[in-house]
Amino acid sequence: MTDYQAPADLLANKTILVTGASDGIGKVLAGSLADHGATVILLGRSQEKLEAIYDEIESRHPGRVIIHPLDFKTAGEQDYKLLAESLEEQFPRLDGLVHNAGLLGARSPIEYYPEKDWQDLMQVNVNAAFYLTRALLPSLTRSEDARLLFTSSSVGRKGRAYWGAYAVSKFAVEGLMQTLADELAATSNIKVNSFNPGGTRTEMRRAAYPAENPESVPSAESLMPAYLFLFSEQAAGIHGQALNARDFDPEQWQQLGSAFSDKK
Ligand SMILES: NC(=O)c1ccc[n+]([C@@H]2O[C@H](COP(=O)([O-])OP(=O)(O)OC[C@H]3O[C@@H](n4cnc5c(N)ncnc54)[C@H](OP(=O)(O)O)[C@@H]3O)[C@@H](O)[C@H]2O)c1
Repeated sequence: MTDYQAPADLLANKTILVTGASDGIGKVLAGSLADHGATVILLGRSQEKLEAIYDEIESRHPGRVIIHPLDFKTAGEQDYKLLAESLEEQFPRLDGLVHNAGLLGARSPIEYYPEKDWQDLMQVNVNAAFYLTRALLPSLTRSEDARLLFTSSSVGRKGRAYWGAYAVSKFAVEGLMQTLADELAATSNIKVNSFNPGGTRTEMRRAAYPAENPESVPSAESLMPAYLFLFSEQAAGIHGQALNARDFDPEQWQQLGSAFSDKK
């Protein structure tokens, strides 16, 4: 992965919401966005875990972090509306939204796939991203240059045996990204893309590959240059793309953006 040195003030005056910020990639991302100047709004299901992240970030960047516990498994339309209303009272606009929360579920043949896991994964991995996007689009529209990032996976681009609802939910996320990107291409400043972090050393990865040596898997920290780049000026044209962390190359990705701007 090519390195990218983000300036320390890359995200000054930006407000960015990250879901699943209580652990894994989302937790590291939340800290990194704040370290580069953003005010971060952190969603997760565990108040306790969010409070620990809050304390960490608040000690480094006072007044630039807020937390909002929300369990995507049980949240309904009204919860997302209330969240959006509360954020609108606090922030004039939203400059970024990273749909990062996700569940892995069972690995099993479709024939025996547990119905409960299927429903839970669709709710957390797909429906929550739909509800949250819909509720926050007005706030994102008020930004001059908003970025909306869905989190995908290699099994969301090519199906793989026994990955069941996880794979199917990630395909759905790609569909949501493409549909929204096409809708917004001509009518808004919101850039919409999907990002596949690839194998990353987190609880989810450990659950998926229990026999693997965790040290052989890249850390969440190693993904930060790619994430930060996607919030940079150079990435302002990237839209409707299914990106892979392992392909990160600032020059090539900037060209992807230019190709989109030329088509517009
Ligand atoms: N790690 C990888 O190798 C890998 C590879 C490809 C794609 N991804 C994707 O990257 C994203 C982050 O994965 P990760 O590895 O960092 O996973 P992780 O360590 O398991 O973290 C997942 C995050 O989602 C949150 N979450 C789970 N269920 C939720 C719910 N019902 N309501 C609200 N939040 C909920 C978790 O909250 P708790 O802290 O309460 O559990 C946690 O903050 C996911 O979308 C995943 O599919 C990961």
